[in-house]
Amino acid sequence: MIYNKQIIIALDFSTEIASLSFLENIDPSLCRVKVGKELFTSAGPDLIKKIHSQGYEVFLDLKFHDIPNTVAGALKAAADLGVWMVNVHASGGKAMLNASREALNFKDAPLLIAVTVLTSMGPTDLSQIGLSNNPQQQVQLLTDLAVNSGLDGVVCSAQETEFLRSQCPEEFKLVTPGIRPKGDSLDDQKRVVTPRLALEQGSNFLVMGRPITQASNPSEKLDSIIQEIES
Ligand code: C5P
Repeated sequence: MIYNKQIIIALDFSTEIASLSFLENIDPSLCRVKVGKELFTSAGPDLIKKIHSQGYEVFLDLKFHDIPNTVAGALKAAADLGVWMVNVHASGGKAMLNASREALNFKDAPLLIAVTVLTSMGPTDLSQIGLSNNPQQQVQLLTDLAVNSGLDGVVCSAQETEFLRSQCPEEFKLVTPGIRPKGDSLDDQKRVVTPRLALEQGSNFLVMGRPITQASNPSEKLDSIIQEIES
């Protein structure tokens, strides 16, 4: 298998300084990075510019969910930052997804992906918000909505990858967290797959945090994961 920069390192740090100093020791030609709500809220948009100036492409993981006009405006602001990928909640509905697609319908726009059902939510959580579908049915329904609204992909758990790959168009991207190299600690992830298996099952991008960020030598760890994928 050929490695093609599919790893997205989750920058789950609380400060700008911690994230930038971590990135100084990584090769931006080997991975992309994800900035989520904690880091973005504490460090702000300037951090994205600094990460770009270190040569990285950024997945801005803010999971927008609001009325269509507001989400469209937020996505345009994200695009102005020059990020590579952004996301919205598919449960924001068809009108919101259409407005999202329209907002990012230009050449070299960031990839626009959707979150379906948060993996922290089980059947009881869904019924408590009035949904009678089980999580898998809801993932399927929201993935279909994302495909039909012209989005570029969805975030999906490693367990859903194989099934969704068989249902979705070839060019539709599956972005998969819950990845652990062979023998690594699971941390708080319950059901994990290896990087290589996730790619074999049809994932396009692997979101990985602690296996790399908490490694004693993150750069060597990244190299070894790439070797595991290519071996
Ligand atoms: O450290 P670890 O590899 O578990 O980090 C995974 C990253 O992917 C974290 O940023 C986490 O918030 C994110 N994520 C996840 N599960 C989801 C969606 C996102 O672990 N269903």
